[in-house]
Amino acid sequence: MSPSTFKGHILNDHIKGSVKWSSPSNIALTKYWGKHGHQLPRNSSVSFTLSTAKTITQVSFESKEKPSSDINLSFEFEGQLNAAFAQRIIRFLEKNKEALPYIDAFEWHISSENTFPHSSGIASSASAMSCLIMALIDIERHYLGHELSNEEALQRASYLSRLASGSACRSVYPLAAEWGHNDDIKGSSDLFALPVGPQLHADFQTYHDDILIVSSHEKSVSSSAGHQLMEGNPFRDVRFSQANTNTARMMDILKGGDIENFIDIVEEEALTLHALMMTSRPSYVLMEPNSLAVINEIRDFRKKNNVPISFTLDAGPNVHILYPEAFAQICKSFINEQLIPLSTGMVISDQLGQGPVKLDI
Ligand code: DP6
Repeated sequence: MSPSTFKGHILNDHIKGSVKWSSPSNIALTKYWGKHGHQLPRNSSVSFTLSTAKTITQVSFESKEKPSSDINLSFEFEGQLNAAFAQRIIRFLEKNKEALPYIDAFEWHISSENTFPHSSGIASSASAMSCLIMALIDIERHYLGHELSNEEALQRASYLSRLASGSACRSVYPLAAEWGHNDDIKGSSDLFALPVGPQLHADFQTYHDDILIVSSHEKSVSSSAGHQLMEGNPFRDVRFSQANTNTARMMDILKGGDIENFIDIVEEEALTLHALMMTSRPSYVLMEPNSLAVINEIRDFRKKNNVPISFTLDAGPNVHILYPEAFAQICKSFINEQLIPLSTGMVISDQLGQGPVKLDI
């Protein structure tokens, strides 16, 4: 069955219910940067699913008294009604009504919070959107008779999450996920992500990602605007092909446990993403001086001490510090002593995690 198809039924009875989910953020090892059409990526990417940085969302619904084609939804973020977020969700639902044909049969109330501080500057669309979608699919299965195997439910969740925010489609799977068609990756698709967790080498399953908050300022460019800039970037074709080569190689590395090559690719991808922003028109420098200072410290420390610590960055100044569990103690001391002074003082200690979870209400 196509992941876009809803095969449940909208009963005439008056019903209501509520479900609560948590869903994590993810960190891309090879980067999705450039999109076209209806949320289709220009290249494939692969990410680690995180554990600590997550969104918790409760979705409550009740049949409308009077049928209408309007989408009625209120949205509360961290205890406060937030009309701007509500509008963003309504726009997404309107655009994708065909895949969610029951959406206008109910009144919706969504209440959401993140485990990471709002001021941390961490992008939350991957966790927020995948969490909302996991809750909707739970409602479909448990209240609206949409019969799906667990595998089909996750594929539909990934498909719909992509439509809400590209990177969100990778958050639904435990440990790691790949998204985007790649000739060298069997089963890969632009429409939804693939689970990589079952093939992940043991050394990566317990990998750490300490997110060092270098600056908590709002992003100077939204990721949507950033993706669009790729269309006119002079290096676009070479970039899309490099990303596909790196993603296929990264998949082999993740299965085989080759940490040395992991480091080369992960850092190349992070710096390429920033180079692309610098060479776009208009051009953006998304790193802060201290992001670069942290990167240089990490490389020096790795070389001098032979410790396989590495970094990646999203489209912002904060540095994700990646290292294996076997080196956790030495890496944590290094971060505390040498890197924290270069940051806002905030570090979110994260690790690979098991993906979205249903919570008790
Ligand atoms: C730099 O998923 O936030 O984090 O599809 O417009 O919502 P939209 O973009 P988004 O882009 C994420 C870009 C990135 C790299 C990545 O996660 O692969």
